[in-house]
Amino acid sequence: GTTTLTLHPDFRRGALDRRLFGSFVEHLGRAVYTGVYEPGHATSDEHGFRGDVVDLTRELGATIVRYPGGNFVSNYRWEDGVGPREQRTPFLDLAWRTVEPNDVGTDEFLQYCERTGIEPMMAVNLGTRGVEAAAALVEYCNGEAGTRWADLRIANGRTEPYGVRLWCLGNEMDGPWQIGHKDADAYGRLAAEAGKAMRLVDPTIELVACGSSSMQMDTFGEWERVVLGHTFDVVDHISMHAYYEETDGDRASFLASGTAMDRFVERVVATADAVSAQRRSDKRFTISFDEWNVWYLQSRFVGEKNLPIQRDAPRIIEDVYSALDAVVVGDLLVTLLNHADRIGVACLAQLVNVIAPIITEPGGPAWKQPTFHPFARTAATARGEVLDLRVDTATTTTAAHGDVPLVTAAATIDPATGHLALFVTNRSPEPQTLVLRTPGARLTLVDALEVTADDVPAVAGPEHAASVAEKHVRTFELGGDDGVDGGEGVGGEPAATRT
Ligand code: AHR
Repeated sequence: GTTTLTLHPDFRRGALDRRLFGSFVEHLGRAVYTGVYEPGHATSDEHGFRGDVVDLTRELGATIVRYPGGNFVSNYRWEDGVGPREQRTPFLDLAWRTVEPNDVGTDEFLQYCERTGIEPMMAVNLGTRGVEAAAALVEYCNGEAGTRWADLRIANGRTEPYGVRLWCLGNEMDGPWQIGHKDADAYGRLAAEAGKAMRLVDPTIELVACGSSSMQMDTFGEWERVVLGHTFDVVDHISMHAYYEETDGDRASFLASGTAMDRFVERVVATADAVSAQRRSDKRFTISFDEWNVWYLQSRFVGEKNLPIQRDAPRIIEDVYSALDAVVVGDLLVTLLNHADRIGVACLAQLVNVIAPIITEPGGPAWKQPTFHPFARTAATARGEVLDLRVDTATTTTAAHGDVPLVTAAATIDPATGHLALFVTNRSPEPQTLVLRTPGARLTLVDALEVTADDVPAVAGPEHAASVAEKHVRTFELGGDDGVDGGEGVGGEPAATRT
């Protein structure tokens, strides 16, 4: 089939917030211990953080990292993770039934972010704790000398405030699995009061209220309406979480996961806007899509749910990804980009080992999963503003989502350089011909990158990761009146390529 993309550099949806390329490190499995942190590893720095993981994180292009959870945060006492290491005691994390040694805590994480050039996104515990502990943590991180918690940070060796800007008011509080799970009223009231106190400590912070854990939650919609009602004057963002997987061999539906994400975003935006409209307010909440990925939750996670209590960073939720999963991740990124006018923050869940683009072996190498590539390429290339692109393509009928487009696309333009970047996903098993029309505009296509991988099932290990190849397939130069100018000299003609 043929897909025609029509674009004009002046037709724009909105500015791209670089925080769309965030990730997530939870105290879960081997995300922290033997993931980002492994004292004694050959590449580790003097703080015990693995240099090979830092290098891959930079290459991935993660702009922010959410921490310390996830479900973990809902039973976490942050005070237990600061101060002299020898005085810290392990605790039993009930979210994952794992003994948390407390070797890494707030200071270690925030200093790791500084060294890696990443912005931290912190979450407070609104499961087992509340207003006081949340405000105290903001003071610990951002307060100036002269008050209790800021002085504790200074006593722990860090004089300068960290200036953490982005804060999650709890995690998935709508989920019955969450420690301290609440109904929308109870959570909304608590989040409003915690947020109010946190902002009184530091008025410059941005706050994220918990939205639904997925669009499938029974309380979806009503949860957002009630929570945003309580927190209207306090929060900036409402969170979304979504994980996608192939079920019952339905590959076509899995490949169209971006359509499900698209509908989820539209429904949350509609609900949030209705809350504003009812108040006759111009306030527009933005979305913090702070957990998204492919996760074989139903098919592979089943056996990991009721494990005995574990110690020493157990291997849990270490999904191994295939080239197919990488296509879906690319498609989800296209969806996120196309909603950049309302999505302010997004986090690929997670960064290392746990449903992650980066895998490590304790004492051994670190490598990229296939899903690393679409994320890294998009984070590196998408800049500036997202264009309002028209995509004329065939549709296919899927069992899960009905009719869906076969090809999806997003484009950005960087006003600073004039560079336009186009991201295209082919959801069909067949190659597609792509025609790019740019009426009234003159573009020069300078580079096209092809990411290829063998169509093989997911296989663990660095050797498999190396089977994903990236190559620069064409270089175009030249000019014309409209359309895209190609290296073969097709001035004024639309450019066609295969995707
Ligand atoms: O990312 C893994 C888990 O998924 C998180 O802890 C939780 O927030 C979500 O259910």
